[in-house]
Amino acid sequence: MSDSTSNAMWGGRFAGGPDAIMEAINASIGYDRRLAPQDIEGSRAHAAMLAAQGILTDKDADAIREGLLTVLSEIEGGTFDFSPALEDIHMNVEARLRELIGDAAGRLHTARSRNDQVATDFRLWTRERCDEALAGIEALQEALLAQAEQGADWVMPGFTHLQTAQPVTWGHHMLAYVEMLGRDASRFRDARTRMNECPLGAAALAGTSFPIDREATASALGFDRPCANSLDAVSDRDFALDYLSAASICAMHLSRLAEELVIWSSAQFRFVALSDRFSTGSSIMPQKKNPDAAELIRAKIGRIFGAQSALLMVMKGLPLAYSKDMQEDKEQVFDAADTLSLSLAAMTGMVADMAANADALRAAAGHGFSTATDLADWLVREAGLPFREAHHATGSLVALAERTGRDLPDLTLAEMRQVNGAITEGVYDVLGVDNSVASRTSYGGTAPANVRDQIDRWRTRSR
Ligand code: ARG
Repeated sequence: MSDSTSNAMWGGRFAGGPDAIMEAINASIGYDRRLAPQDIEGSRAHAAMLAAQGILTDKDADAIREGLLTVLSEIEGGTFDFSPALEDIHMNVEARLRELIGDAAGRLHTARSRNDQVATDFRLWTRERCDEALAGIEALQEALLAQAEQGADWVMPGFTHLQTAQPVTWGHHMLAYVEMLGRDASRFRDARTRMNECPLGAAALAGTSFPIDREATASALGFDRPCANSLDAVSDRDFALDYLSAASICAMHLSRLAEELVIWSSAQFRFVALSDRFSTGSSIMPQKKNPDAAELIRAKIGRIFGAQSALLMVMKGLPLAYSKDMQEDKEQVFDAADTLSLSLAAMTGMVADMAANADALRAAAGHGFSTATDLADWLVREAGLPFREAHHATGSLVALAERTGRDLPDLTLAEMRQVNGAITEGVYDVLGVDNSVASRTSYGGTAPANVRDQIDRWRTRSR
């Protein structure tokens, strides 16, 4: 400490301390304290390696490693006094270590810099959040699979343009989200694999002249290998962007399901009833039961997209290697990860608890001429019509039914034969919604038999 007002860690060449505004804009301790466990894990691995390489004495390394555990327990116990004057988590931890163990603490920073330190901490943190996202996704998939299993053959309207299109099964609709989430999981796994290289030992930007063992620290911290280029190691934030892209796509999927739950739980649809545990009431309208969790998921997703844009903007155009801009990498990622995990948990709760109304689904499935395509297909198959001609004849029958306020199965055989003489009694078999879905056995189709096969496939898949 050269001067009582200059910074204890780097104040050697400074005559005075920073302006209060300088300190305010420079400090990251308000948020990067979340990296404390990773910072201490990284420092402990670094100290052990320095001792193994003969760069530190065992005595100093032991004191450092023990002292760091004390610091961690103080932070976890809420008794640690974080200081903005010490800027960030790295210097706060080191300063406290010095108070605890004395001068040996000053040897910890040998052969490293805050640049490789923060890159390592943040990777470790983001890697954990990938694992957390994977667990959250799996839990939601399980809830969706349980819904699919229960309603594998429940008929509901399938929509395009949110207009009734063709009957589908409830199980098939649930499995569509299981597929999306499966791709999300694979994106998080890819991101995790790609980020699993260790920046520690890249030091400030150029590496170090000390005989360090980067393989040892990489493996102690669970990384597959050290990053191969020191300049890249300290300036790369791709891992956070990979996380945010995977999170954004997953969040987009959650918002689509959330939107469906909002629509489905309305009095007009009544496709699902959300549980009391996952809805709220209105302070003025006693009859209301609102799908707030679904609405909030739909909205919160914007924070995750925003985080991705923000970090891309921070990184855009930065010259190698580290620039202080990169301190602005963390807050948004923290918020995105918290938002994603809360959204996944809330969605899992809603899906696990919701009760689909099989009768309402079935009634809606039969409305809106949903089996018109089945009728056209029947004309192709049984009467040998070209599909375009069958489409036209069916269109005329839909118009007739619409004019007279009926659905397709309500038309008489005589009325149908007036439109096309080839139609026989057998056509009524395909106008029912159960026959319609049961017939769609093409791979990936909505038939209950397919749904059951797909549930089995998901349940027995190797992850
Ligand atoms: N708090 C800093 C950050 O998060 C740590 C790295 C500081 N490096 C430096 N050269 N000033 O980016």
